[in-house]
Amino acid sequence: MTETERVTRGIPVLTSYTDDDLADGRAALLSGWSTGSEPGLVITRAAGALVWDAKGNEYIDCTSMAWSNNIGASVPEVVDAAFAQARQLSHLRSNFDSVPLLLLSKAMTDAAPGDLKRIGFTLHGSLAVEMAMKLALLNRPAHTGPFLALTDGYHGRSLASMGLGWPHVNHAFDRAYPPVLRVPQPYAYRSGRTPDEEVDYCIAELRDAIARRATGLPPAFFMEPIQGNGTQLDFPGRYYHEVRRVCAEHDILLVFDEVQTGFGRTGRMWAAEHYGVIPDILVFGKGVGGGFPLAGVLASTALAGFQAGDEALTFGEFPVSLAAGLAALRVLHRDGLLQACAEMGRYATAALQAIRPRHRLIGDIRGPGLLIGVELVRDQQTREPATAETLEVYRRAMDLGVIFGTTRYAGLGHVLKVKPPFTVTHAQLDRVVEVLDQVLTAVENR
Ligand SMILES: Cc1ncc(COP(=O)(O)O)c(C=O)c1O
Repeated sequence: MTETERVTRGIPVLTSYTDDDLADGRAALLSGWSTGSEPGLVITRAAGALVWDAKGNEYIDCTSMAWSNNIGASVPEVVDAAFAQARQLSHLRSNFDSVPLLLLSKAMTDAAPGDLKRIGFTLHGSLAVEMAMKLALLNRPAHTGPFLALTDGYHGRSLASMGLGWPHVNHAFDRAYPPVLRVPQPYAYRSGRTPDEEVDYCIAELRDAIARRATGLPPAFFMEPIQGNGTQLDFPGRYYHEVRRVCAEHDILLVFDEVQTGFGRTGRMWAAEHYGVIPDILVFGKGVGGGFPLAGVLASTALAGFQAGDEALTFGEFPVSLAAGLAALRVLHRDGLLQACAEMGRYATAALQAIRPRHRLIGDIRGPGLLIGVELVRDQQTREPATAETLEVYRRAMDLGVIFGTTRYAGLGHVLKVKPPFTVTHAQLDRVVEVLDQVLTAVENR
């Protein structure tokens, strides 16, 4: 045995490894996943809306793998673009520009709504949220108060972004969070108020928070235009306009976190376009990289950008992801996937509404596009969250080859997410609804 063979012997290769190698790797991992319901499930392949595990089982993926494979998994043009860029130049220091960086900056800002014509890139939604926080602090130096955020918002799991959302209290990380003041989001289905009353209530709470509860003016108000982890919740149209008005009155920057709602997920490029409100900063991530890590912010031209050193991460402007993003954007438009998302969203929602009358567990079904939430309740009157039942539905559906998402927000976990890639077929959606129908019946008759 040569010296090289000896020192590389223990390092497994992707083309030949043992189950023990995988088990050792799993035992070494620090991270755990919250449901505990996928023990040892190794996914080895994905294409379009399908994924396969190591045993060859096929699943319809209603999670788009964390809402990221918007244009489908393993899209050849995207993979080819990433490969070509990796061969040419996979990495460079952030004080140099790469061609994909400049081309994607142009393409994304050309298509951005309103005056969101400046852009910054990074690799994760959480870091893009932090980029937005920094931009707000830079541009509102006299606003020394806390950030504003919605009670059930979710903005990531880096320390600062985690501080903006869940989990809220009594968590080991609390002591390192930035100052944040939370205000309630409209949730008329649960509050019992009418949507209009709910908007009035939430806006009054926002005004009260700014006037009486914040020590100093907040630099920015962060909200997801449609809450993802926070129960797949969209708000009455008037709410967005009222929020915009209150922020403008106090010169507070409005930040839309579109990490989940963006890149076509609602049937439009950005959810902001549904409501006719343009934020000062729009945070993007997930789908933009076509399956590669890519995130960032679009910012108003009225805002000052960063100075050297303010925002420079070693892999922040990763050329491979930027090239993938450019290809993903092209595929999104070339293949009419915004329209496909809107159309498939309507199809899936109608099919879900059709099974609703025979299921006492279904409390609410909400969209838009392929950002569908199905809220499960134990009782149609009290609307008690059906948390254990949701997990059971999730597990049983997985056994039948459909992977749903579940919101695990704030320990509720009672909303199923139906958010497949936009390339999902009618036949696949029919199967998804058929499986849901079947497992809901089983859980209800238990
Ligand atoms: C709305 C929202 N913001 C931010 C993030 C964080 O993105 P990432 O996990 O890429 O850091 C997520 C991820 O789920 C998200 O849904």
